[in-house]
Amino acid sequence: MNGGLRLTVLGAGHLGITHAACMASLEFDVLGVDIDRGKLDQLNAGHLPLYEPGLGELLRAGLGAGRLRFTHSYREAAAFGDVHFICTGTPHRPGSDHADLSQVRACVAALAPWLDRPCLVVGKSTVPVGTARRLAAELASACEGVELAWNPEFLRESTAVTDTLSPDRVVAGVTSRRAEEILRQVYARPLADGAAFIVTDLETAELAKTAANAFLATKISFINAMAEVCEAAGGDVRALGQILGADPRIGPAFLRAGLGFGGGCLPKDIRAFAAHAEDLGAGAALGFLREVDAINLRRRARAADLTLELADGNLAGVPVCVLGAAFKPGSDDVRDSPALDVAQILNGMGARVTVYDPVALDSARRVCPELSYADTITEAAQDAHVVLLLTEWPEFAALRPGNLASVVARRNIVDARHALDPDTWLEAGWCYRALGSAAGTRATVPPRK
Ligand code: UGA
Repeated sequence: MNGGLRLTVLGAGHLGITHAACMASLEFDVLGVDIDRGKLDQLNAGHLPLYEPGLGELLRAGLGAGRLRFTHSYREAAAFGDVHFICTGTPHRPGSDHADLSQVRACVAALAPWLDRPCLVVGKSTVPVGTARRLAAELASACEGVELAWNPEFLRESTAVTDTLSPDRVVAGVTSRRAEEILRQVYARPLADGAAFIVTDLETAELAKTAANAFLATKISFINAMAEVCEAAGGDVRALGQILGADPRIGPAFLRAGLGFGGGCLPKDIRAFAAHAEDLGAGAALGFLREVDAINLRRRARAADLTLELADGNLAGVPVCVLGAAFKPGSDDVRDSPALDVAQILNGMGARVTVYDPVALDSARRVCPELSYADTITEAAQDAHVVLLLTEWPEFAALRPGNLASVVARRNIVDARHALDPDTWLEAGWCYRALGSAAGTRATVPPRK
């Protein structure tokens, strides 16, 4: 089915490791490339340097079957591959909202001089529109028969393996039939399973990714804007989200009000998209993304304000328990994590913050060494005046008032992710506060499972 194509995956981050291991599971021979030798040693020994459900097993299966290995050598990659996937990161430039393309450029510059036969280079990284056209020219001048395609990735952390093996759609930004055919071969299995294959130009393919993330962020900030209105008017944003989501034109996904979005993608992607649109002279078109960002950040400030209220207006020296450090459940990623941001804000207000997270404690300790950390929920909640649920891990959603009642000093809880049943906590004598409803409001919809 795979036409004997040999694949390289350039960049062994979340995207690259997932893509490499998934392609090996589809029976391609895959060579992963990265410049970090420590990480390469780990990967070749079967150790996953990040948390992603199901990925470790896939990595070890690929290595064991002899279909997957990792190297630092671009020369080896050029000799090995018929198709080279660019999966390097595009963080924001320090001190700027623009994307930093240095890793993508470095990877193409390292590969191009070694290419000596026709092949397809496929960009998967999230880049500003226009990048692919420039890279295509650079590659075409390096060696005859070398072509570039753009094939954005829509995988989510925590479901990265299924998102890669069973995508909704495969976007093929191409400049030739040959490139399209090669991508059809690479994705033959998901296409046979029903994934849509959408052929387009390079620019539309680049935009597909940034537009999708911008839309998702907008949807979340829309419901969080409604949460602000509910707080002012006395409505319940959970019920409102359920009512809106029942309209098939709107749909329920990404309408979960709460602490908002974080992570290594949505926040930096909407900022880079808005900044690039300004460069293109289309800044007015994406001005609303600045507001989407502002609404998102206001939720963090609101969670801190609720905590201050529950602590009678003074957090100095007050023990506070923070449940959650990861930007979302199922991940150990704390990049732009709303939970960790709130913990830092509270720390800045003088609170004695203790954080617990089932998976992300090590990453959190590295980024925020000034906070205290605990190894269990009860240890974190010991003597707390306020408990905040900031990442909706299942073990937090399963908490009952009785689990904490004898541990905390005062029965105050801020449920920033609508993970708990308000009635249960109110009936047990807790002061329960959520984002997007008036103080002490009883539930009008059951909590999320
Ligand atoms: C996001 C996109 O969903 C992927 O399609 C995309 O490929 C990826 O970015 C990327 O650019 O690489 P991810 O960052 O892994 O994926 O996480 P999401 O599941 O999108 O969640 C993002 C944030 O939004 C999380 O902090 C989550 O808690 C929050 N969120 C999500 C809400 O606050 N409400 C919702 O209804 C949904």
